[in-house]
Amino acid sequence: MRTVVVGAGAAGLWCALHAAERGPVTILAPGAATLSATAWAQGGVAAATAPGDSPEAHAEDTLAAGAGLCDERAVAVLTREAPGEVRRLAELGMPFDPAPTLEAGHRARRVLHAGGDASGRVLHRFLADLVEREGRIRRLDGLATAVEVEGGRAVGVRTADGRRLVADRVVLATGGACGIYGHRTGPDTSIGDGIAMAWDAGAALADLEFVQFHPTALDVPGHPSRLLTEALRGEGAILADARGERFMPRFHERAELAPRDVVARAVLRVREETGGPVYLDARGVPDVLTRFPVAAAQCHEVGLDLSLDLIPVAPAAHYFMGGVLTDTWGRTTVRGLLAAGEVACTGVHGANRLASNSLAETLVFGRRAALAEDAPAELPPLPISEPIGPAPTLGLLLPAVRELADRHLGPRRRGPELEAAAERLAAGGVAAGSRSATLVAWLVALTALRREESRGGHFREDLPEPNPAWRLRQVVTPRGWSALPIPATMGR
Ligand code: SIN
Repeated sequence: MRTVVVGAGAAGLWCALHAAERGPVTILAPGAATLSATAWAQGGVAAATAPGDSPEAHAEDTLAAGAGLCDERAVAVLTREAPGEVRRLAELGMPFDPAPTLEAGHRARRVLHAGGDASGRVLHRFLADLVEREGRIRRLDGLATAVEVEGGRAVGVRTADGRRLVADRVVLATGGACGIYGHRTGPDTSIGDGIAMAWDAGAALADLEFVQFHPTALDVPGHPSRLLTEALRGEGAILADARGERFMPRFHERAELAPRDVVARAVLRVREETGGPVYLDARGVPDVLTRFPVAAAQCHEVGLDLSLDLIPVAPAAHYFMGGVLTDTWGRTTVRGLLAAGEVACTGVHGANRLASNSLAETLVFGRRAALAEDAPAELPPLPISEPIGPAPTLGLLLPAVRELADRHLGPRRRGPELEAAAERLAAGGVAAGSRSATLVAWLVALTALRREESRGGHFREDLPEPNPAWRLRQVVTPRGWSALPIPATMGR
């Protein structure tokens, strides 16, 4: 079986390593490691490996974070199989740090790091080295532009320089789409190309209204937002207002370790109330410079010392819970087309992702995609309930998409603004614009507009409460809208 894996982050690399057992594999991705969000991850791999912890407890925490929209089967797969992936990696020599850490929403110390907050970089390098040594995997430097579909089946991939890669199956592992936002914690290039390719191939997409905003991205004018890991707060860092006063206890009983959406909105609120910055105060975290080398280096770059200074922070787009709808084997609604990692939507995150479940997801579902049988996805029927208007054909220029997304598709949304944003994006743009970013932003605006409630990462100021009638997942294809109901026994 010939496999083409599009993308070379953790999901793509881990998938390729396992797919090589079944036949020749080509990984198609642009060369630089920094183009993969994995290499930017500061959290670790969430897996119930510590004594006293269990996959069931991990599953409960994941379901609680997901605000009633998780697919419980996917959550069970993730939490049961994550410890096995960690064990496999450790056996191959992955240098995990000795003790798991605590992050928001986890009731146990279950986040495995490597190199402190350089976990993503270490994992990415480790997997890339394994791939380099695997003779059955070919790496091609290039950009995929389309999945080729014949007779309802994916048969290959087209590249930006006109090549055509023929395959028995195509695995999208292209990462998420936070690059449609100006304020983001990941690579500039994560603009939803994989989501757009799946859409063009006719595959169903799900949960696109749910974007996670990280509350503590470095906020220094003229510098890109950079993630300051939640593990800092897990180890005692606090959030302070412009007067240096701690404020999170007045917003949530879990204070700085409240769910990310709660902390993100509190940060925005306090900035408005005081008219000044909000700071992350990590001065009390023991050995902060050696334990958090990536965060320390990012602060140093802008002339700040994490161990001595208050660090200005603001929310930034961090993770797409939604993406290409898959079953628990990574199979999409197009036969032969699979997806794994942030581009995929297994339902494991529901409306909000639990910290460090994403690297765990790349490993568990990356491997599963490699092992999947060639069969239709195990998904319920998805009858179209309503057509969708014409999608943008030409894109807006990327800065225009980002400006619009920051302004209207952020941590606090409002119906009329979502509507105006959707119209502007649908109107399309120019040949030099980014069609992927425009298409994804348009779908985020539409799904957010349709969801008439607030839940998880999606917050509507005009509809601030959850509505039980919306306990369903929105699914969309070029043919129109459908919905995945959540069985009554699932989630909470
Ligand atoms: C973080 O390190 O704060 C991010 C971890 C994650 O998003 O899983």
